[in-house]
Amino acid sequence: MTSLDSYIESNKDRFLNELLDLLRIPSVSADPKYKADVARCAEAVRKNLEAAGVDFAEICPTAGHPIVYGEKIIDPKLPTVLVYGHYDVQPPDPLDLWTSPPFEPVVKDGLIYARGSADDKGQFYMHVKALEVMVKNNALPCNVKFMIEGEEEVGSDNLGVFVVNNKAKLKADVVLISDTSMIANDVPSINTGLRGLSYVEVEVTGPNRDLHSGVYGGAVANPINTLCAMIASLHDADGRITIPGFYDDVQELSAADRKALAEAPFDEKEWMKELGVAAVKGEKGYTSDERCTIRPTLDVNGIWGGYIGEGAKTVLPGKAFAKISMRLVPNQKSDRATKLFKEHFEKIAPPYVKVVVRPHHGGEAAVTPTDSVAYKAASKAMEEAFGKKPIPTRGGGSIPIVALFEKELGLKTILFGFGLDSDNIHSPNEHYGVFNYFKGIQTIPRFFHHYAEMSK
Ligand code: BES
Ligand code: MN
Ligand code: MN
Repeated sequence: MTSLDSYIESNKDRFLNELLDLLRIPSVSADPKYKADVARCAEAVRKNLEAAGVDFAEICPTAGHPIVYGEKIIDPKLPTVLVYGHYDVQPPDPLDLWTSPPFEPVVKDGLIYARGSADDKGQFYMHVKALEVMVKNNALPCNVKFMIEGEEEVGSDNLGVFVVNNKAKLKADVVLISDTSMIANDVPSINTGLRGLSYVEVEVTGPNRDLHSGVYGGAVANPINTLCAMIASLHDADGRITIPGFYDDVQELSAADRKALAEAPFDEKEWMKELGVAAVKGEKGYTSDERCTIRPTLDVNGIWGGYIGEGAKTVLPGKAFAKISMRLVPNQKSDRATKLFKEHFEKIAPPYVKVVVRPHHGGEAAVTPTDSVAYKAASKAMEEAFGKKPIPTRGGGSIPIVALFEKELGLKTILFGFGLDSDNIHSPNEHYGVFNYFKGIQTIPRFFHHYAEMSK
């Protein structure tokens, strides 16, 4: 494989600059004002795929943002790897907390700073470059299909439709995704599970208009106070979620499975220090690592109402709002969690407020086996590239399409992520290591090689 590594070495600057160009396009899927930029990004991805050597690459329009599809079929009898990624990014807000503008990438101390650098442009683009490396060196050992979408950060609704309607086109043997993280640059790991998600927005209405908080305050319930009390009641003293039935379907891990997961190195003190917290908090009976991966959660993502401008305004607001997410674990169903939340939240609403619960997107959890040919190939590829055998870990984030690939296409996924939890994804100063980017480009062709060999 050394000839591939030397090809990478001699094209390093170009590989990095192409990524920086992609990062300059503000492909924010959530905000309609970026619609043209998202489309421009899709076209850039298509062109780059073509340049990397696919047979063809096309833009597939959807009811929302387009999907980029490309393929290189060298022999229909050989296995096919379906690479999935997303070119859309989260909104960059809050802008004032960035040390450099989110869409003007800078490389500083070995880190590429830009929105989307780790999630997921830097990661899916490793696959585009790995394809180039394999094609240019006559080392592509099997077929490859690319499906890079533009709506992952807003729930992949239209991708779900696309997958259902294009089963033949997407026929493959395994899905390969780089959109997760490893334990550390010197502790490679492979994600074997993702959590599901249920996301809702709640609206709490009190009086029919904003009121003077002196004239009415004390006698008319304040919807923000009420919302806070309702939210506070959603956890008990043991950190468990109080929604009746919420834990019914939760898959409890065996003591052996918990022990195996606990073998992954995790320095809680160091972790707390890095996050700037003096203590941890969570469900009783579970470690921090377990709370972040194999246990369900309920979190407020945003809460608003009343006056939040400069200075002080005395007001008893008429309405209060919150965006609430629940992370789900295998066997819990997103729709059921949403239903249970809605029923419970409406039930606990005191008579002095009206409550509306609006479901947003959701998705199911996923677990990937470690005894498959693809996992073994991924493990071997990482072991060669990092000089250490990767540790299987569970991830806490969600990629809802993974469960759908299994349900609709019957395909298992390899979560071949090269990011780090400390990359600040979805947060100001998102960054991706130059080391990680090139390590990924070096490791991916090794995966293809071993996967094709082991499939023989
Ligand atoms: N790449 C992330 C998911 C992720 C990150 C998984 C790190 C594991 C480790 C993905 O882009 C993402 O942000 N997903 C969303 C869900 C989506 C439905 C908006 C999430 O997890 O919040
Ligand atoms: Mn992502
Ligand atoms: Mn994301």
